[in-house]
Amino acid sequence: MFWIRTIREPKDAEITPYETWLNRRHFVGTSAKAAVAGALVPGLLAGCDVDGERGVSKAAASPGIAPGDTDQEAPGGPSQDRDWSKVRSELDEPLNSWEDITTYNNFYEFGVGKDDPAKNAHTLRPRPWSVAVEGEVESPGVYDLEDFLSPHAVEDRVYRLRCVEAWSMVVPWRGIALADVVRRMQPTSKARFVEMTTLLDEEQMPGQRRRILDWPYVEALRMDEAIHPLAFLATGVYGRDLPNQNGAPLRLVVPWKYGFKSVKSIVRFRFLEDMPPTTWAVSAPREYGFYANVNPEVDHPRWSQARERRLGEFRRRPTLPFNGYADEVESLYAGMDLRKNF
Ligand code: MTE
Repeated sequence: MFWIRTIREPKDAEITPYETWLNRRHFVGTSAKAAVAGALVPGLLAGCDVDGERGVSKAAASPGIAPGDTDQEAPGGPSQDRDWSKVRSELDEPLNSWEDITTYNNFYEFGVGKDDPAKNAHTLRPRPWSVAVEGEVESPGVYDLEDFLSPHAVEDRVYRLRCVEAWSMVVPWRGIALADVVRRMQPTSKARFVEMTTLLDEEQMPGQRRRILDWPYVEALRMDEAIHPLAFLATGVYGRDLPNQNGAPLRLVVPWKYGFKSVKSIVRFRFLEDMPPTTWAVSAPREYGFYANVNPEVDHPRWSQARERRLGEFRRRPTLPFNGYADEVESLYAGMDLRKNF
């Protein structure tokens, strides 16, 4: 991130008005049958939906699919479990292609080039996998991934991903609500933050031999952010298990924040009383803050955040406050100075 070419643009005061889906959204469809029907009927679907909302739905074949059931070996493209060509975001944006999403990545544990993770991440072994839960919780422990995931409803959610480097994509994630996991772990009244940590293993992640960051990669959310309904733990993309380069087998997705908050290949959740140091905020504190909310009005010290390049598009488009999710999340930050708390 620190060697991106500097792009300084005139400030773009005009942000395209965007439609909100605040009151139309709920997260789980009525039945798997309805979900499948929704996926096949374009009029109903209008964005990956079962009840008329866009962008969110129960996974097409939820009962019976556990993350891990799909073929990790040679995914090769979107699963055929729904007609992805008809799926759009709640702002009516088309999805980025499987190729965009799985070959243009940031995952410094496998190299710093955008195509390095796709080339190098075959050394990661996402199964078997375990997840530690520690700190201020009633249910600490070490869980097999399958046990960690199995109580929770699997959903498809279409979210924009806006990288702090000013590129973006629209991604159909598959996964579970972070809030459900947090509640199940029963944080104590002292827990104010949830920290999430990537695997530390130089053999599986050879990029960790280079000290470009202070490994392991760590990110964290305030508790109210973590239990916000939009916060998500992805186990898949396009109906398939996550490819290694996208953070298999489990990665965070917080769509109103810059992509670097979305920590990949998580092995530990720690519930904390105090705000923990996080990787990029430690590495370059003037450039990357703890909150990292997408904000077109606060430029990166070396480039503008007013616009972004959507992969596959020619012209740069305006960046939306909170990446288009302002109606849902801005109340989390009421009374805060978002220039100071960047
Ligand atoms: N997680 C780890 N462990 N290591 C990383 O380098 N990069 C972050 C985030 N999560 C990163 C990470 C950044 S900068 C972005 S933009 C997103 O992952 C990219 O996710 P994607 O490759 O699936 O698009």
